[in-house]
Amino acid sequence: MPSNAPSSDRPSVGLVVAIDGPSGSGKSSTSRGVASRLGLRYLDTGAMYRAMTWWMLRAGVDVQDPAAVAARADEARIVSGTDPLGPTITVDGVDVGVAIRGEDVTGAVSPVSAVPEVRARLLELQREAIAEATTDGGIVVEGRDIGSVVAPDAPVKAYLSADPAARAARRAAEEGGSDVAATEASLLARDTIDSGRAVSPLVMADGAVHIDTTHYTLDEVIGLVVELVEAVEARA
Ligand code: DC
Repeated sequence: MPSNAPSSDRPSVGLVVAIDGPSGSGKSSTSRGVASRLGLRYLDTGAMYRAMTWWMLRAGVDVQDPAAVAARADEARIVSGTDPLGPTITVDGVDVGVAIRGEDVTGAVSPVSAVPEVRARLLELQREAIAEATTDGGIVVEGRDIGSVVAPDAPVKAYLSADPAARAARRAAEEGGSDVAATEASLLARDTIDSGRAVSPLVMADGAVHIDTTHYTLDEVIGLVVELVEAVEARA
């Protein structure tokens, strides 16, 4: 397994690393780890969908009514900070980094994410963040549709997965010891909606390398993705 020593080789300008996969597959920790090892920016697109959902709930919008969500999709002012060591997210100037991880947002984010107007708005913001970062060394972007829709030309694409039980155990531990069975049921329900929606469903993008993280440590997965980046850099 590759070592996790800091790399001195800064990737070339314009690098985009697309990391997709379901909840609990290790995407966030891997993406942040790869970005900080390689001196890249980091964008968590799931946090943006959560921020949009937080805004909808606070505005009293019925999140189960796609027309109501669509009508207000352009109102929330979502700003993402892309430092992998301290990513931030604000909505209308309010820091929502903690609030977007609450149960209310987690329970409502899949239907909000399925609304095409929401996806169009966030796609615009994601492409802006990517364009800005690619003039500054590059960026690791994580989500569900990064390699397929947001950055289909990304030179490095990884699709992370893990057994549902492992994913639930990781998520429950992150949430401070929530019930593992309930966490597994909740993430499987979200998988079904995220994979089955009409617009930009969770899929393994063309050209993506599949990494099943079930039996790997975080450092090992980071090392595997860094190897993918280095292979692309060596060919450039
Ligand atoms: O990665 P996460 O669990 O924080 O993402 C929250 C939700 O956002 C997830 O259930 C689906 C949605 N999402 C999406 O539809 N497209 C993305 N690129 C990222 C997240």
